[in-house]
Amino acid sequence: MSKKLIALSVLVMFVLAIGLAGCGQSAKPAEPAKPKVLKVGSDTAFAPFEFQDEKTKEYVGFDMDLIKAIGKQMGMEVQVQSMNFDGLIPALEAGNIDAGISAMTITDERAKKVNFSKPYYRSGLSMVVRADNNTLKTFKDLEGKRIAVQIGTTGADEAKKIKDATIREFNTAPEAFMELKAGGVDAVVNDLPVNEYYIAQAGGKDAKTVGEPLTSEDYGIATSKKNTELADKINKALDELKKNGEYEKIYVKWFGKKPPQ
Ligand code: ARG
Repeated sequence: MSKKLIALSVLVMFVLAIGLAGCGQSAKPAEPAKPKVLKVGSDTAFAPFEFQDEKTKEYVGFDMDLIKAIGKQMGMEVQVQSMNFDGLIPALEAGNIDAGISAMTITDERAKKVNFSKPYYRSGLSMVVRADNNTLKTFKDLEGKRIAVQIGTTGADEAKKIKDATIREFNTAPEAFMELKAGGVDAVVNDLPVNEYYIAQAGGKDAKTVGEPLTSEDYGIATSKKNTELADKINKALDELKKNGEYEKIYVKWFGKKPPQ
């Protein structure tokens, strides 16, 4: 090897060594801290609270906008996991998700297993019958009839109290509505705003709601009993969104009117 070549290779090695050494140093620009992820479970077949946008495949709805706004307020990135409604509380108990938002009614029984945020939506149960039905007008008329409900819901609990009624339980609310349309049941007992949305979407030709709402219920965001810190943070974020007008904006977007005071 010529002297020149040796000198050159020494130089190359030197440069390489410096370059490599540089890699180990912390001279790299600091990466921005990744926002923490909030794993949220929801049964995303309950419009207008949670459902999948057919085109974008995104989960949308009142609950979805609300939980995203809450996440933003807490500096967390919300990741929604779709699951069966009756799997939400077990998933929280097992620690598979951090929170559940799913138009879930705050009940004493559920509150034994999970923590609930402050109420964020006032709801209630109503009954849906086929549009051409003129005999079923009140819950009393459902005695001895066939009723479709979603498994694990307050609607299922209430329907089971109706005398001599045959209860058909479905995994999702849309399946219960389909059964009504097909004539397999006489009525569906389910959350009023969801019933109204379904009827409006179908242009009122398939079904209608009748009678007075059966119950008054409040929806809450569920968290694990073990994570009281998260429950507090969610409540704080909710307060903040109510103060800064964001909650009202989301409410108006989905229900076309201002939230009741
Ligand atoms: N509010 C009712 C309940 O808590 C029904 C909720 C069903 N929610 C859903 N996303 N499917 O039992």
